[in-house]
Amino acid sequence: MTRANMREAEGPGPRGPVLDRRLLCRALAGLGAEALPRVSKAASREPSLAALAAAKGVVFGMALTREQVQEAPALARVALAEAAMLVPGNELKWGAVEPAPGRFDFVDADALVDLARSHRMQSRGHALVWHEALPAWIGTSPTRAEMSGALSRHIGALCGRYAGRMHSWDVVNEVIEPSGERSDGLRRTPFLGALGEDYIARAFSLAAEADPDAILTLNDYDLERDTEWQARRRAAMLDLLNRLIRRGVPVRALGIQGHLDPAKGPLDPEIFRSFIRAVASLGLSVFITELDITDRLLPGDIAARDQAAAETTRDYLTAVLAEPSVRMVVTWGVSDAYSWVDGNRRTRRTDGLASRPHLYDGAFRPKPLRAAVADAFRSAPARPIAR
Ligand code: G3I
Repeated sequence: MTRANMREAEGPGPRGPVLDRRLLCRALAGLGAEALPRVSKAASREPSLAALAAAKGVVFGMALTREQVQEAPALARVALAEAAMLVPGNELKWGAVEPAPGRFDFVDADALVDLARSHRMQSRGHALVWHEALPAWIGTSPTRAEMSGALSRHIGALCGRYAGRMHSWDVVNEVIEPSGERSDGLRRTPFLGALGEDYIARAFSLAAEADPDAILTLNDYDLERDTEWQARRRAAMLDLLNRLIRRGVPVRALGIQGHLDPAKGPLDPEIFRSFIRAVASLGLSVFITELDITDRLLPGDIAARDQAAAETTRDYLTAVLAEPSVRMVVTWGVSDAYSWVDGNRRTRRTDGLASRPHLYDGAFRPKPLRAAVADAFRSAPARPIAR
């Protein structure tokens, strides 16, 4: 994560919600975070995003990392005030949590899951099986037996440890890649190489066995826009979901990451909503799992950029939340002080300015993006109570 321009905050600012400071201090102490800076009394009684979302039957969450919480208690205060769920951004990835075969390190993940729990919040697990952030010991071409054993031990350990405490898990992340020569559009990964497509079904079955209560999610990106490439991705995803459902695989939700990047093409709400309805017709919920905005092609001027980012995000969420199958929205971060966007040459700005991907700025004050998300929740239709 790169720190753009973090300054000690004066608090969440004029429109941030209020938080029980005593609770937070006690919880952060468990994370090894410094004491909270003095909080200005300016915080208004603005409803939290969690409250606005819950009023429409949607769970609102925020991703953060232990490093961020330890360095910036003000970031934690914003997340605890705004969200109903916390998502460990990196702490549950394979390389972080099983650095050697069968040797698990849950310290950082536990700290974040406990922080959520101490505030009566939910947690979400990301991600059991992903071709990135893998430990070196997995190797590039494990045998069938090696991969089968590794999957069983890894998923059993993680889902077993947090059973009953996870709202949902991203069981398999970023599974499709239609540019390859495979007719099924699946991404070539060490998992596919060792076990074929069956690795997906196995991962879901192992997760369901270890934690029957978590909502098991297949998570991917670039499924929204009106381009030939994303149309191929949508088709490959629908074909895969149909195969999994026909086999009785316990997938219960599609996670659409929602890393918004206007440079990737136009957004036609009807095309996107039609895809969401096709997924819902399989009996699945739809989650927006990693909402943020890559502003590389938006204006450099901060006021103009923030306004453009807010408008494109409002359009996206308005389309998404019009569909009753959409049950969750998670932002992939809290503040511009920390974001993956500037650490990636494909997403950082070419003018050298720091990106502004999140709802709060580098001083932890709410931006127009936060107002846009709040407005989208306010104007969304209420979903029927989940069965
Ligand atoms: O913590 C270490 C630090 O000790 C070390 O000095 C530094 C230099 O290598 O690396 C730090 O770890 C980095 C970690 O983020 C924490 O900052 C890793 O190198 C870096 O690879 C990792 O990047 C994460 C990336 O996934 C890969 O795991 C990003 O934070 C995270 O936001 C990003 O999130 C992904 C989702 O999981 C899946 N969807 C796409 C999304 C954005 O890429």
